[in-house]
Amino acid sequence: MDLSPSILAADLTDLKASLNDLEGRVEYLHMDVMDGHFVPTLSFGELYTKLLKQHTDIPLDVHLMVSQPEKEVPKYFPLEPANITFHVEATDFGVRLAREIRKNGIKAGVSLNPATPLSSLDYLLDEIDLVLIMSVEPGFYGQSFIESSLSKIQRLRDLIGDRDITIEVDGGIDASNVGEILQAGARRIVAGSACFKGGDIPGNIARLRDAAAVSVDTKHVS
Ligand code: DX5
Ligand code: ZN
Repeated sequence: MDLSPSILAADLTDLKASLNDLEGRVEYLHMDVMDGHFVPTLSFGELYTKLLKQHTDIPLDVHLMVSQPEKEVPKYFPLEPANITFHVEATDFGVRLAREIRKNGIKAGVSLNPATPLSSLDYLLDEIDLVLIMSVEPGFYGQSFIESSLSKIQRLRDLIGDRDITIEVDGGIDASNVGEILQAGARRIVAGSACFKGGDIPGNIARLRDAAAVSVDTKHVS
């Protein structure tokens, strides 16, 4: 499991302390950029993301919940994130956008809302490095996991075949369901509340990792 904590759920007034706790414990930092248009809420953009980058070496996993991502995506190129993920619902130019991201040496990701069918990836799979399956409606942290996401992940795994594409899942993930999400085929797990709630970040992460390890064991037995 690659863990990508969603900064949105952290104490944004005391981020340096949170970053200290995350350092060495997680593979990515998930940046939820929300524009108040594609989703009802407004969070932060490229300036805040740039500021945060100055305080950490953890690779950035940028999730753009924005309309017209073709205007926003280039703003993140100078930040050299690990990937930039845009929503397929937000653009008619997915292939061009994915190619532009890759041309800048950054991995291209696309995200699907819970009600968006996998057929929206039909002409994209050979252009991208990552698919982010939303397991809640985007816009807020702390919502509960939508169960139908599990079969969606399994079907996506079959669709991907032997392409080198990471399956990332985002929303409502905690120690109680992370195992089945990994077993369904996810590799990267986004966790907001499950990482930050109560303030014990190292303890929260350890609980998630323990739960993930149990799922790997069961996989070997079955
Ligand atoms: C939802 C965001 C998620 C969210 C995850 O719009 O994309 O990344 O912050 O938070 P939890 O894990 O609390 O559902
Ligand atoms: Zn997200």
